[in-house]
Amino acid sequence: MAKFVGAFAASHAPLIARDWTRLPGPVRARLTDAFARTGARLAAARADVIVEIAPDHWTNFFINNLPSVCIGVGAEHEGPREPFMRDFPHRTLRGDAAFGTHLLESALRSGFEPSMSHQLALDHGFCLPLWKMGLDPLPAIVPLIINDLEPPMPSIARCAAWGTLLAEAIASYPSDIRIAILASGGLSHSIGEATMGAIEEDFDRGCIAAFERDDTAALVAYLEAELPHVGNGAHEVRNWVVAHAACGGHGFSLLDYYAVPEVYVGCAWATWEPAA
Ligand SMILES: [Fe+2]
Repeated sequence: MAKFVGAFAASHAPLIARDWTRLPGPVRARLTDAFARTGARLAAARADVIVEIAPDHWTNFFINNLPSVCIGVGAEHEGPREPFMRDFPHRTLRGDAAFGTHLLESALRSGFEPSMSHQLALDHGFCLPLWKMGLDPLPAIVPLIINDLEPPMPSIARCAAWGTLLAEAIASYPSDIRIAILASGGLSHSIGEATMGAIEEDFDRGCIAAFERDDTAALVAYLEAELPHVGNGAHEVRNWVVAHAACGGHGFSLLDYYAVPEVYVGCAWATWEPAA
């Protein structure tokens, strides 16, 4: 049976890619260190497959067709697509059609109705953490896209339910592979609204404290109360909620928190690994 080997979480501020050479040296050094340490922990998990949870920043979907949840069941994906990611290598990434399909079937059996895609282009939300973590070789990637961008979005409680479902799908997968989860996004940021560029450090600290606790229900309550009052980008912590619930509600260990005004994002990196 498949083995769940850990959950990892990281921010994906796009200016980390676009403005990399313009960022001050100390900022680049700390970001490099945080991604490298997260990547080292993920590499140590020796995952065959990473279920990566991220939003789609209008790369595959738009307001004419915007799924709340989409599972990538393709044998491969490609990315990143955005022109501002041109300094990053564009790659074809291996998918895992068999596990992606198993996750889809598990969801449908359990009363969830995600969309699916056999052909996804991955954007900076998926590629930036993977590239910056320096994973080599890169495990197969099964994308799980959550609409964190455009209201109305899946509720926080529903994201937690997705996490429980994901853990059950891993546990029931009849193949002897190692599967990790990588949640990409958050913490606070504000894009295209009056508070553009604002980083809500109080929210971020509360958010981190909630993720560190062994209590997904308390985490859901905190986010449902606080998310309406911070910048729109913070909604991406839904992806972290999926991961937290998939860990059975075990608290994450924070690897770093770094509010970076130069990239408009309160950046955080965290992990949870099961006991050996
Ligand atoms: Fe994002």
